[in-house]
Amino acid sequence: MSTINDVAELAGVSVTTVSHALSGKRPVAIETRKRIADAVERLGYQPSQLAIAMLTGRTMTLGALVPDIKNPFFGELLSAVESAADSRGYGTIVSSTELRRDHERRQVEMLCAKQVDAILLIGCSDDAAGFIPAGWKAPVVVVDQMPDSSQGFPTVRSDHERGGRIAADHLCQLGHREVGVLAGPPTMLVAAARLHGFLDQMKTHGLPVPRTRRIAATQFTLPSGLKAAHSLLTRRPELTAIFCANDLIAYGALHAASELDIDVPRDLSVIGFDDIFVSSMVQPTLTTIHQEITELGRRSVALAVQALAPGDAQPIDPLLEVSLVVRSSTATARTQDRPTQSRTMNNEVKR
Ligand code: RIB
Repeated sequence: MSTINDVAELAGVSVTTVSHALSGKRPVAIETRKRIADAVERLGYQPSQLAIAMLTGRTMTLGALVPDIKNPFFGELLSAVESAADSRGYGTIVSSTELRRDHERRQVEMLCAKQVDAILLIGCSDDAAGFIPAGWKAPVVVVDQMPDSSQGFPTVRSDHERGGRIAADHLCQLGHREVGVLAGPPTMLVAAARLHGFLDQMKTHGLPVPRTRRIAATQFTLPSGLKAAHSLLTRRPELTAIFCANDLIAYGALHAASELDIDVPRDLSVIGFDDIFVSSMVQPTLTTIHQEITELGRRSVALAVQALAPGDAQPIDPLLEVSLVVRSSTATARTQDRPTQSRTMNNEVKR
């Protein structure tokens, strides 16, 4: 494998001149550059990433931190991040904190130690931006979080509050009056924004949702949704519809409904939030609020790269629209009397 010394020898110049020519950091005469380029070509010289980083001060790497790589939402988002980064010549290091907030600080420190050129904090806890060390100079973009949690770093996110409102409109249009909520983790601002939009819009329709019909899933996961749904549906058998803070929580609700022998959508309508690809495949297929997941990924990379090379680039809108996707988990509310029995956790029917 040839080295920079071989290139310098063949081109008849010093190693310093070769490194100046390759990094573009100092001017090198055209003739000399041509000789160096010929030598590089003839020797098939491949500068190491480490050498390039030392010459340019760039690792050509973005660091992306997500809370849960097993959630398809983050898989889809990361796939968009990687391809947008790749098309600009950047590699991506992905760290998943496995929903453990104590891991976030360590992962942020690891990305900084690797000298990534920019950090994307994606769907992290609301204090994650505070883990960025004080002297950190490279760009940080906060993705899928509310601006209140961004510590002043640029953000890209969906309109979470609007998503909650659209879900409320949909359930009201279907005639649901007895509506419950499986909210997201109480400490996360995006979950709070969805909940606020939903509750406020229900109030506008004259159907306020009392606290007794709401329960928070501790995490954006199926098991959390299953547990919360079991508890809500056994306590409130009169519910005809549930708004769930994300699709995984909604799958938990579908599961709980099936265990409790509640038919979806005949007896209970379920609506999610995200529109991950699995939602068009589960049975019944899930009605949900669609987030532009790929676009979130693209815009976050565009913001990071723009900050790395500021110029007269196009402004990037940090707020993405959401929309309703109607599938088969929601239907018109039953008009006949609701069952009066309540259920226990063991699915025995109590009169
Ligand atoms: O499914 C993961 C959830 O966490 C999504 O709703 C996303 O917006 C988020 O923050």
